[in-house]
Formats: sequence, structure tokens, C-alpha cells
Amino acid sequence: MKQNYLELKKLAKSFGKEDETFFAVDHIDLGVKEGDLVTLLGPSGCGKTTTLRMIAGFNTPTSGDVLIDGTSVNNIPPNKRPTAMVFQNYALFPHMTVFENIAYGLRIRKESPEDVKRKVSDIMNLIGLENLEDRQPRQLSGGQQQRVSLARAMVMEPKVLLFDEPLSNLDAKLRVSTRLEIRKLQQRVGITSVYVTHDQEEAMTLSDKVVVMNRGKIEQIGSPSEIYSHPANRFVAGFIGKANFLESVVVEVTDEQIIVSYQGKNIAAPRWDKKLKVNDKVVVVARPESIIPELPSEDLVEGIVANSVYFGSQMLYEVELPDGKILQIEVADPQYHVQFERGHKVGLSFKDRSLHLLPSEEK
Ligand SMILES: Nc1ncnc2c1ncn2[C@@H]1O[C@H](COP(=O)(O)OP(=O)(O)OP(=O)(O)O)[C@@H](O)[C@H]1O
Ligand SMILES: [Mg+2]
Repeated sequence: MKQNYLELKKLAKSFGKEDETFFAVDHIDLGVKEGDLVTLLGPSGCGKTTTLRMIAGFNTPTSGDVLIDGTSVNNIPPNKRPTAMVFQNYALFPHMTVFENIAYGLRIRKESPEDVKRKVSDIMNLIGLENLEDRQPRQLSGGQQQRVSLARAMVMEPKVLLFDEPLSNLDAKLRVSTRLEIRKLQQRVGITSVYVTHDQEEAMTLSDKVVVMNRGKIEQIGSPSEIYSHPANRFVAGFIGKANFLESVVVEVTDEQIIVSYQGKNIAAPRWDKKLKVNDKVVVVARPESIIPELPSEDLVEGIVANSVYFGSQMLYEVELPDGKILQIEVADPQYHVQFERGHKVGLSFKDRSLHLLPSEEK
């Protein structure tokens, strides 16, 4: 079992004066293993950047501790910390060449000219910046500027590499290819990384662990598949991917399954939560791909197709239930399924193994 290499202990930051103070980061605990890439994911204003800046030393915590490799870095100024940050806006020096930008930190550290030259050219080769050393940032594309900014951080050989939405200024296609490159590079070099994003797809594809944040608190920490398949609560379920929520009541518990009743019809789900018992109120989290529209039948939940959109590889349906609730449904390989049109009555069957039950949050 790998040890935690980076640790946040009851880390908090409040802003504002007197009766208007609030915790932008509200006493969070987090451990990151050596060589892992962890993303902080959450809506705007949930405290991601503030957390990252406390790790880097740009913000002073109100309370709590940041430990790197077992040592508290609280009293170490940012330029002396074993961290380096890649910024969203690249923050390159506009009047310096690519080489000088990357060499800057090493020069401040007073490394010998030979070492500077060797390290800068090694990192430029690694990141695919060959032959660009004499250009100025304005002579580079956005993607190239982003790479220079990554090279400038990595050349310092930090113990922890920090990314704050590094791809949000790139167009959609470049974002996808660049994030794959970042991941490959991070794994090859084995550098422990914390990556901030509000883009859930980015978080899912990059991370060993995803930390879902909301209002300064951590809602859940897990692998991408844990977070998607077993969200800890409604917030996580709704924030990661699309989710339909069905308020139900438990009617039967077996070794493997929990049967719930939804509008008088039974739905079976895997028994992840051993505490649930008969008569408990629960919410079924059904992903759009876990619901199959079929011909209506007595034991299926019934609805009317309110909308159907054909996407080639997928058919998207909106189905309205008798209580007015609209379910989002995605059917892959639509040519292998019965297709329905707006106004058709359908029965809904559920892929039981991909359903997830949450205890009802209403008290
Ligand atoms: N220097 C500051 N003074 C006062 N409030 C601040 C300061 N910095 C951040 N905040 C507030 O703290 C909260 C968290 O901000 P933070 O920048 O960490 O959010 P974020 O999760 O990075 O959001 P985004 O996705 O929009 O970048 C916000 O409500 C923000 O307005
Ligand atoms: Mg931010």
C-alpha cells in the first residue's frame, strides 16, 4: 500500500470580514498517493482554486495543514516549496523566448549554465517543443503556449505538480488531445499531481481519483468508476454524468438485491447499501443508459415518449411519467431495438446491475 505523499489535514480558508466571513474551503481532508493524479472537480466557486493555491503557498490557510512527503510546508514560502503550478492563462513572460521562459526558475535557483541548458533541452524534447526555443510566446499557438507552461513547471522537478484548469483556453478538439498527452506524460514521469477542473469528462478521463467538491466541502473521493456507479449522494450523482432520480420505497431485501416499489411497479437494484431495509425511502439513481424503453406491459413503469432524437449511434428519448416527471433515456445501437416516436406509450425496464440506491435525504 502506497503512503500518502501529499496530505491535506482539516485544511480551511475563510474570506470576508466579521459577520460576513465564509469558508471557501471548509476543513477538508485529502490524501494523494505518490505518482497519482487527483482531480478536484466541482462547480464554479466551490473552492478548487483556493485549495490548490494553499498547496502552492499562494494562499495562507486559516487553519489546517499541508504535508508533502511527510513534512508540513505551512511555513515555507511558495518559491521554496517543492511544488510547481500550471496556470489556465499560461502566465508566460511575453518578452522572453521559450527557452528563457522555461529556464527562468532554474536561473533563480542559481543552477549552473550547463545544467540549465541540459535540463531545458531535455524537457523540451520530452514535451515536444523541439525547435521552438527562440520563439516568443506571441509567436506560438495556444496549445504550444500551454506546453511551454507545462515544461516550465516540470523542469523544476517539483514533488507535486499543480494544474488549475490548464486546458480551458483551448478549443474542444485540442483539449481532448492535450489532456491525453498530459496524462501520458504524468504517468511516464510518475509525478504526483493535483488537477483542478470543472469539466467532468476531463476529470473522468485523467484521474486516478476524483475529488468532488461543493461549497468548500468534499462530497466524495473515488475512482472515476466509483464516482459514476456509486455516487455518495444526489449532488454527486447529478454532477457527474446525467442521472434520473426515482423516489421509491424498499419492498424486499434479498442477499444480492433490493427490490423497490416505484409508482406501484417493482424495480430491482444491487444491494450495495447493507443498511437499507423494508419500508425505507430511497432514491433510485438511473443513468440514461440504464433504462430501456419497451412495449408497455403490466409490470413495467409506464410513460409517454415526449421527445425522441436519433443520433446514429444513439437514440435519445425523453419519457414523461404519469406524475409529470421526465426521464432521460439513451439507447445505444438503436437499430437493434424497437424505436418509438413522440406520443407512443412505452414500458420501461431497468438494467438492474447499473442502478444505484441512495437513502432518501428528506427527513
Ligand atoms: N481573495 C478572495 N477574497 C474573497 N473571496 C474569495 C477570494 N478568492 C476566492 N474567493 C471566494 O471563494 C470561493 C471559492 O473560490 P475559488 O476560486 O476557490 O473557486 P473555484 O472552485 O476555483 O471556482 P471556478 O471554477 O469558478 O474557478 C468563491 O466564492 C470566491 O468568490
Ligand atoms: Mg478556479
